[in-house]
Amino acid sequence: MTINIKKCTPEDSRKLQEISYETFIETFKHQNSPENMNAYLERAFNLKQLEKELSNISSQFFFVYFNNEVAGYLKVNTNDAQSEEMGDESLEIERIYIKNIFQKHGLGKYLLNKAMEIAMERNKKKIWLGVWEKNENAISFYKKMGFVQTGAHSFYMGDEEQIDFIMTKTLI
Ligand SMILES: CC(C)(COP(=O)(O)OP(=O)(O)OC[C@H]1O[C@@H](n2cnc3c(N)ncnc32)[C@H](O)[C@@H]1OP(=O)(O)O)[C@@H](O)C(=O)NCCC(=O)NCCS
Repeated sequence: MTINIKKCTPEDSRKLQEISYETFIETFKHQNSPENMNAYLERAFNLKQLEKELSNISSQFFFVYFNNEVAGYLKVNTNDAQSEEMGDESLEIERIYIKNIFQKHGLGKYLLNKAMEIAMERNKKKIWLGVWEKNENAISFYKKMGFVQTGAHSFYMGDEEQIDFIMTKTLI
């Protein structure tokens, strides 16, 4: 078993779109209407939007490979790319997704450690993220990784307002 990581470039937009769609659908289709899912997918993962995000110097995307197959991805933001004003001493994990068949093999932890490494290299004091209050699997994973709930904010899935818990891990 080999695990590798690769930083994405703007040329990876199609591959990123593919895995973004696949993992988002796998994760959320059971608890959301097809209309709201489609509205979100089209807004968040259209190629123009992804190309813009891939070109933002305050965002970084990574693919994680399990035995040479793309198994998941990570998106981190700093400075004004963060989806909330958290200041220059924070790093946001905006997306961390592992395909179902590759979950529970240590890949989520591997990507989280990558985010921590970036945060520490940049002398950040904390890592934060927003997670849907109904995403119990991810919340349990984040707690296991040392995150605690520090707030909440609204998130729009199509026209439905949902609550995201804000979870934070302080770096020492
Ligand atoms: C959440 C997610 C990233 C976790 O990734 P993963 O690869 O399955 O997790 P790992 O195998 O790296 O687990 C790391 C550790 O967390 C633990 N863990 C994983 N999921 C857990 C859960 N649901 N409850 C408790 N512990 C959990 C593992 O047992 C492991 O513990 P260990 O270090 O003692 O061995 C993955 O399940 C996923 O992509 N889910 C769908 C997408 C999603 O919800 N993303 C988050 C959106 S906010």
